Amino acid sequence: MSETKLWAGRFNEPTDVFVEAFTASVEFDQRLYRYDIQGSIAHATMLARSGILSGDERDSIIAGLKSIQKRIETGQFDWSIALEDVHMNIESALTAEIGDAGKRLHTGRSRNDQVATDIRLWLRDEIGLLQAAILKLQQALLDIAEREIDCILPGFTHLQTAQPVTFGHHMMAWFEMLDRDRQRLADCNKRVNVMPLGAAALAGTTYPIDRHYTAELLGFDGPAENSLDAVADRDFAIEFTSAAALVMMHLSRMSEELIIWSSAQFAFVELSDSFCTGSSIMPQKKNPDVPELIRGKSGRVFGHLMALLTLMKGQPLAYNKDNQEDKEPLFDTVDNLKGSLKVFADMVPAISCRRDNMRAAATRGFATATDLADYLVRKGTPFRDAHEVVGRAVALCVKEDCDLPELSLEQLRAFSPDIDADIFEVLTLEGSVAARDHVGGTAPAQVRSAIERARQRLADAGG
Ligand code: ARG
Repeated sequence: MSETKLWAGRFNEPTDVFVEAFTASVEFDQRLYRYDIQGSIAHATMLARSGILSGDERDSIIAGLKSIQKRIETGQFDWSIALEDVHMNIESALTAEIGDAGKRLHTGRSRNDQVATDIRLWLRDEIGLLQAAILKLQQALLDIAEREIDCILPGFTHLQTAQPVTFGHHMMAWFEMLDRDRQRLADCNKRVNVMPLGAAALAGTTYPIDRHYTAELLGFDGPAENSLDAVADRDFAIEFTSAAALVMMHLSRMSEELIIWSSAQFAFVELSDSFCTGSSIMPQKKNPDVPELIRGKSGRVFGHLMALLTLMKGQPLAYNKDNQEDKEPLFDTVDNLKGSLKVFADMVPAISCRRDNMRAAATRGFATATDLADYLVRKGTPFRDAHEVVGRAVALCVKEDCDLPELSLEQLRAFSPDIDADIFEVLTLEGSVAARDHVGGTAPAQVRSAIERARQRLADAGG
């Protein structure tokens, strides 16, 4: 029951049935319908203003497209594989609906500039939604950072106890990663928001079109400068997927920390039951499925980036059918990134900190050893010598199985006569974090002003 192909003129034999299905994209590109219609309305409006269509033709095209949009949105539109893609399904329905005027819509245009325009319009909207989703997660991080500004845990390097930090400071580290991600998306959007329409198949068109006007109607920053480039390149999609891969990489690292922290061995945090699942065999289990799944999804987004790069690399100018393969990776990237951001933002406020466990962990592993060295430096010892002295004190603690502040003043003074009773203040966890009192440091006062500045940044970004 093949519908008549819009390009059937030069063909004598029908398309092979399998090839028809194999080459069709309508099953996935129908999600672009709204942008396809938006682009067609702008194109028809421009054609009429340039005297290429009559006002009546324009009006009936626009009315027809709007009615098709309504049919699609109410589930009364039959997508046909024989009509290959979203563009030809809609165009053919338009002609069925309004007659000959429908056949004039494709004047001065090709599916090559049409599809490139549709994807850019769609992606521009999705970037806006993703920026808002990142912003929401950032808000959640600011709130938990504020709530846990005094909560102390061991900071790690090499996953070995390094120095005490506050949970608030740690949450603000996550905030900063996401802030760069949001900026990257905004920057990428500058190169997405350029209009291919008018490039037609590859060389431009013989009609007196007005590309600046169409670009203005569609809210593009302007028309693409070169027609060959406009229909051929998908670098904007690759750039977006690369920015998306970085967001997923960050979410994956955050997830990894939540997974470690919620293990029985660390027990630093408890995730809300609503973000975990149980085991069908081990009754004691509460598994951090949500962060694990996000960590796993980062892999598929990285894969999409590689797929898109590989898709482009061998293509001669201009359009090639290879480009039809750009959509599924791009759609899947957006869907998974959006879902991951949403669930992460919902999960963060429900993280409860097991402060006693974090504290206990921070008192193991000599987290304040650097503070002792810095103390000696303040008393005039060169840092390298202080490092050596503290190293020997740590060795004694290892032998005695105790932490530095548990040594007596006499024991400490045996390592350096510069050590006085005020050392015990310095060796507390609170003393340690409070001493890192400069922009970017973990002192609660600094974190508090970092949070204030961050709130202002979000407000400026429209949050
Ligand atoms: N479905 C096609 C795509 O996604 C639309 C453009 C097809 N153009 C062509 N000349 N076959 O790329």
